[in-house]
Amino acid sequence: VAASAQIWAVPVAQTPAAIAGARARLSSGERSAADRFVFEADRVRSIVAHAAWRVLLARALDRLPGELRFDRTPLGKPYVADADIQFNLSHSGDYSLVGICRDGEIGVDTELMRTLGDYRDVAKRFFAPQETAWIGAAPPEQQLVRFYRLWTVKEAFLKACGSGLSKPLSDVVVDFAPAGGPVLASERGWTVDESVMMPGHAAAVVVPAGTTVHWQWFEDDLAGV
Ligand SMILES: CC(C)(COP(=O)(O)OP(=O)(O)OC[C@H]1O[C@@H](n2cnc3c(N)ncnc32)[C@H](O)[C@@H]1OP(=O)(O)O)[C@@H](O)C(=O)NCCC(=O)NCCS
Repeated sequence: VAASAQIWAVPVAQTPAAIAGARARLSSGERSAADRFVFEADRVRSIVAHAAWRVLLARALDRLPGELRFDRTPLGKPYVADADIQFNLSHSGDYSLVGICRDGEIGVDTELMRTLGDYRDVAKRFFAPQETAWIGAAPPEQQLVRFYRLWTVKEAFLKACGSGLSKPLSDVVVDFAPAGGPVLASERGWTVDESVMMPGHAAAVVVPAGTTVHWQWFEDDLAGV
């Protein structure tokens, strides 16, 4: 069977009943982590995303959502404690992204493409010279999009490795030239997918080479459980 990964775009906008249902699904640790957010939008985003990952993983494993036990690596990457399945999460703006892969590590990242005055400085600092050149080669109105595409691919790779910032970002080089989509020029053995479906967002998934990536909307009613 070919390796595959499933990606769900989870809208943060949910009914009050769905948010209450989502909150009820979380562990007490997840609930108190969510309640520590200062802004309501961040709290809801965290509650909805964690409930969604629980529902989706339970379905993939044919278990009950409440049975799943999660842990985190020393660098913070969450994993299911007693099952051979990988997942990853990213939050930004109006969406979270949940990715599940049974065939190896997965990293996902999404960013709401906010206007960013100093993105050129950030790019100079964190991106490789050929990457800043690729940004500069686009028409001005496309440059910020290129910045966010680079950002999300790099971040998704770091999250697939679970390494956070332990590797210098400028060492991870992305090449957008190939017709089949971007590749990691500096790393072997990975596939990049950026078939974004969330308006106004950049998004990227990094999985082991040869893995087919399927994107879909999360449409479960979190109230009805
Ligand atoms: C967590 C991290 C990997 C990403 O953080 P972020 O982009 O702010 O946030 P995202 O919403 O995309 O991801 C957060 C989720 O990633 C997961 N996560 C946390 N640590 C992780 C790690 N080491 N590896 C993989 N996933 C991790 C968690 O599920 C977390 O959500 P949760 O706290 O609700 O459970 C961050 O610690 C990091 O090191 N980022 C790199 C920062 C950077 O400069 N990137 C530049 C890219 S060009």
